[in-house]
Amino acid sequence: MDRGQAFIQSASSEAHPRAHAIDAPSENWPFEVARCSPAIGAEIGGLDLRQPLGDDTYKALRRALVHYKVLFFRDQDITPAQHVALARRFGDLEIHPAFPHHADHPELVILGRNDTKRGHENLYHSDVSWREIPSMGSILRCVTCPEVGGDTIWINMAAAYENLPADVKHTIANLKAVHDFMPLFSIAVDEARHAALRTQFPPVLHPVVRMHPESGEKILYVNEAFTTHIDNFGIHTKEHYRFGFDFKLAEMDLLQYLFRQAQAPEYQVRLRWKPNTIAFWDNRSCQHYAVQDYYPAVRHMMRATIIGDRPV
Ligand code: SIN
Repeated sequence: MDRGQAFIQSASSEAHPRAHAIDAPSENWPFEVARCSPAIGAEIGGLDLRQPLGDDTYKALRRALVHYKVLFFRDQDITPAQHVALARRFGDLEIHPAFPHHADHPELVILGRNDTKRGHENLYHSDVSWREIPSMGSILRCVTCPEVGGDTIWINMAAAYENLPADVKHTIANLKAVHDFMPLFSIAVDEARHAALRTQFPPVLHPVVRMHPESGEKILYVNEAFTTHIDNFGIHTKEHYRFGFDFKLAEMDLLQYLFRQAQAPEYQVRLRWKPNTIAFWDNRSCQHYAVQDYYPAVRHMMRATIIGDRPV
């Protein structure tokens, strides 16, 4: 049986539950922790993020981030400079090549949406997976949001991997996929910059299943926004020649099936924003989706993005 047949057979015949409750870690956190869903997310209380984080708090927050995958903080009226300082505590920050930046802090992406500018982040994605070194995490602050609407959803992609049928895990174990930002971002930048961006950010190859560098978890690492195709799918060899139609369908079916895992509500948490709410997510182990149901209302967010490591 080749990979395409194995995929179709296992996907149609094996029932697999999606329940995936993360364990409550036994440690005493130096802040309040309230879980938001069984699979992902915790609200953190008792911290003032205007103040620099002490070493113990920093280390505990980092552990909480890896464990819960996204952390929420309410009522944090921080300045852009404090936002940058908070993110820098966790690593160097990247500058996004396409999004507008804060005038004094180029590390802060401005996501300003209103009746003249619709949001386009309503795709399941992991930030900047099109970079050779994608980000470790992002810290997003709500400046203004509609009274209702404009929620963001995060998805535990370790759970999505863990609950895959065994045959699918076997099929994807050593595959790599191509990630590219041009299909999505080429509409956001003027055409004069296309060639330069193409040279600066060529398509990159990442493993379909990556290993989390801190927790050791396996993570399903393909996303519908930036993953364009599976590289060298492996059913089309000299010894075993498959016609293009058959080869392409099997590859696309597999990729679509993997993309759809992020859509399972069992792996998700959904945040209702208020001004000065902050979300800090581990971009290595989760995807997110900004719900675009609020147009033409104003939604204004700022994001700092921490540089990560090469997926392996
Ligand atoms: C993003 O995709 O990083 C932005 C998410 C949001 O605006 O909620």
